[in-house]
Amino acid sequence: MNRPFEIMHSYELRIEEAVKTIRKRVSFTPKILLILGSGLGEYAAELDVEEEIPFSEIPDFPISTAPGHDGRLIFGRLDDIPVVCMKGRVHLYEGYEPWDVVFPIRVMKEIGVGSVFLTNASGGINYGFMAGDLMLITDHISVFAPNPLIGPNFERFGTRFPDMTHVYDEEFCDLIREAAHEEKVPLQEGVYVQLTGPSFETPAEIRMLRNMGADAVGMSTVIEAIAAHHAGLRVIGISCISNAAAGMTKELLSGDDVNLTANETAPLFSRLVTASIRKIGKEL
Ligand code: HPA
Repeated sequence: MNRPFEIMHSYELRIEEAVKTIRKRVSFTPKILLILGSGLGEYAAELDVEEEIPFSEIPDFPISTAPGHDGRLIFGRLDDIPVVCMKGRVHLYEGYEPWDVVFPIRVMKEIGVGSVFLTNASGGINYGFMAGDLMLITDHISVFAPNPLIGPNFERFGTRFPDMTHVYDEEFCDLIREAAHEEKVPLQEGVYVQLTGPSFETPAEIRMLRNMGADAVGMSTVIEAIAAHHAGLRVIGISCISNAAAGMTKELLSGDDVNLTANETAPLFSRLVTASIRKIGKEL
């Protein structure tokens, strides 16, 4: 028995089944996959929606157990730009394996998307950031999360040892900067680090992460970015800084407070996402 190769075979079959199910229900090919993080759950209201598919209706699609992460794919258009929103991503801390967390990215690659727009909420580590800021993700630190490419390599997606020098598409980052400028949305920039969670960090961990060069910390996104880049997708990401990271203020951290600030920032965040997609859509 060669277990890794059995796993690879069944994983590829699972992807094919999910792709078939989606193709039966959706008549167009989205160009951008927008992964909605905390606060952006209602973003799909910005689209002319054509089809919604609950994750539970797609065979083997990982289903979120996190409160407020109602899982569905929402297919629609922003102006003429075909987009699919993923509402309710799954996280490592729910017990999912890294390859399950990135399963939707691979399915959407097979469906034909060319770009992935990642969003999330995070704790600000950089002293220059405030709760409610938005941060363009310019690079990431992945060393605290399991790499989603561990295991047999899926040659149909990408190479065994993918380069990670330019994960976040520089041309698209420039378009997001332009969009922020035109919309007068202040935009920070920085390095995002993913930890597995679900516990928040200790103050000592935050000091360590700052010394390593991280500006914001969260529990998602990086492994999705790695799988997407591996598969040749163009990646961009924006993080809503929902709180100062542990130990930086007297406040204790809570998931409810994270969601509250993320929800308050949602109108500004949505405006920036829409303006960014309009610009990026013109380049596709
Ligand atoms: N730490 C980790 N994840 C987070 C935080 C944080 O402070 N805020 C929002 N997501």
